[in-house]
Amino acid sequence: MPSKLLTDYPWTTGPVIINAPMAGFAGSALAMAVTQAGGIGTIGTADNITALGTDLQAVADFYSSSPSLSPSAFYQNTGLLPIGIGLLLFLTSLDAVLPVLQSHPPAFLWLFAAPTLSDYAPWTTALRTALPQTRIWIQVGSASAAAEVARTAAPDVLVIQGSDAGGHGFARGASVVSLLPETAVRLAANLSVGKTDITLIAAGGIVEGRGAAAAFALGAAGVVMGTRFLAANETVVHPAYRAAMLATSDGALGTARAPIFDELKGPTIWPPLYDGRAIASLSYLDWTQGVDIEVIRQRYAEAAIREDMGFSDRAPVWAGAGVALVNEVQPAGDIVRSVREGTKKALREALEAV
Ligand SMILES: Cc1cc2nc3c(=O)[nH]c(=O)nc-3n(C[C@H](O)[C@H](O)[C@H](O)COP(=O)(O)O)c2cc1C
Repeated sequence: MPSKLLTDYPWTTGPVIINAPMAGFAGSALAMAVTQAGGIGTIGTADNITALGTDLQAVADFYSSSPSLSPSAFYQNTGLLPIGIGLLLFLTSLDAVLPVLQSHPPAFLWLFAAPTLSDYAPWTTALRTALPQTRIWIQVGSASAAAEVARTAAPDVLVIQGSDAGGHGFARGASVVSLLPETAVRLAANLSVGKTDITLIAAGGIVEGRGAAAAFALGAAGVVMGTRFLAANETVVHPAYRAAMLATSDGALGTARAPIFDELKGPTIWPPLYDGRAIASLSYLDWTQGVDIEVIRQRYAEAAIREDMGFSDRAPVWAGAGVALVNEVQPAGDIVRSVREGTKKALREALEAV
């Protein structure tokens, strides 16, 4: 059955590739480049509502002034920007963000990191009331969280985030290889108590066609990539951050999931469910060796005031387990097209191999 994303977001070309809404990294330039290439572009936001307003205005201006583009037709027909906006709920004030979203409603909102799972339902209700056409996506990292959120908040899409993912995710988790089919089975068993037509997409450790092909074989309707798009020209990344990422040649040993990355500036502000995957830095090494947290913080503070902001050794360089396969900086559109073609090639080759 063709992916529902192809009809809901009609400018897309399958297999559908989506950039992760990475707050501080994924702005309007990345989102538009991904959407232009037939993928689904997103903008990540934390608590900078002014920056979000500027980004949304840039997207609206671009699609108003380029009427012949396929995403522009979607914008003209629906009034929705042909992109999604990621919100980190524990950092976001509904009252502050709503007016900005209402002035330029996006095709969908991607919700993540609510203080507790029960917070998604009131957020979803409020957003659906204020923005009735905008679809709701929610990212979770376990089958039981997916089942609970499906029952209580009934999102249109669940992003199933495996533990290989770069950046923040469930501290306890599993890779998408088991997580995605387990979630599909769990949701099918729950049909009588929840929404029946939730689209599942996969995130975590996918950086090229082979990983994406695996996700589609697992039943995903689309594939999200964060780490791969950190190496896109349009992404906002400090040069030392990008250099550290490109220099990492072993995703298993060169990255780690750990709470220490959120403890460097002081106690973590993230809800207890979450930690993050980043490059296994000297801060991480100190932590594994039992160095006192105040000493680790002091060493980080000294590194953070350098020109490289500490990214070459002590600051968090969020990246997924697929990072070793990311070796060049490219335009985002080229990434979308090459992963799309690589996915089809990998699926053809897999069929030949069985
Ligand atoms: C640098 C970085 C920043 C991220 N920021 C966000 C964010 O603001 N909101 C969010 O929902 N997910 C965020 N994520 C997680 C992504 O949504 C996604 O799950 C992840 O990138 C997928 O794994 P991959 O990096 O291996 O592709 C971030 C990931 C990275 C690498």
